[in-house]
Amino acid sequence: MTDVKLLTFVCNWCSYGGADSAGGLKLSYPPGVRLVRVMCSGRVDPQMILKSFRLGADGVLVLGCHPGDCHYKSGNYSAQKRVLLLGPVLYQFGIEKERFQLNWVSSGEGERFGQVVNEMYAQIKLLGPLHLAQRKVGEDLA
Ligand code: FES
Repeated sequence: MTDVKLLTFVCNWCSYGGADSAGGLKLSYPPGVRLVRVMCSGRVDPQMILKSFRLGADGVLVLGCHPGDCHYKSGNYSAQKRVLLLGPVLYQFGIEKERFQLNWVSSGEGERFGQVVNEMYAQIKLLGPLHLAQRKVGEDLA
């Protein structure tokens, strides 16, 4: 099966630490997973997500602090609100909703980081490469 690219935004204060903990535990994830460190999940706006797909990501994962733990108080709640609006926009671009996910990983959750990333990667791999430029509105969507 073809390899796919999963762009993963990790917030600086929790999820990046989770990725670091996963490394400390010697947990692995596929080479197609690329991390982008941002200060907060609330920093990742829909334009960044759409741009990620346009530039070749087959899936986008945003990881932030658990609800109530955001170091900027409400950044992850803002991210959560935006996600609700993103589904119809992804549909308009012919992108299956399963290709995007927002999730929570704290700095001590190395195992959870590995699990979330590997599960998302497996899901994207089943869907296959996105080939966004060749898609039409709503094409191939269930
Ligand atoms: Fe982690 Fe805001 S700092 S989600």
